Amino acid sequence: MIKLIPADDLDEGASRGLECNNKYLFAIKKDNLFHIYFNICPHLGTPLEWQEDQFLDESKALIRCATHGALFDIKSGNCLVGPCKGKSLRKIPFVVHEGVIMIDENDLRSPSIF
Ligand code: FES
Repeated sequence: MIKLIPADDLDEGASRGLECNNKYLFAIKKDNLFHIYFNICPHLGTPLEWQEDQFLDESKALIRCATHGALFDIKSGNCLVGPCKGKSLRKIPFVVHEGVIMIDENDLRSPSIF
């Protein structure tokens, strides 16, 4: 398992871009739950954030891709609106151990294949 980020580093309603083993990821804390995804839009494979660490729309209720404005459900990663509707962000499983979010490096393989 790899240490990703201390759980306390992510405030409620916040998102954060992360790099791990040369892969780009992002984390969100919403309703006291963490969600971690590859930072790759399933439409064209671009990064999603519109500014550093900014992955959410104005309401902070959905993930938004900066390139064409696709909107994704935070919990499932499913695209609800936009050119990749029906596709999903790729979620990364994790555990929180002694206050640190940890992921399995095997889950970082082949992130660009949807
Ligand atoms: S690249 Fe994300 S919606 Fe087009």
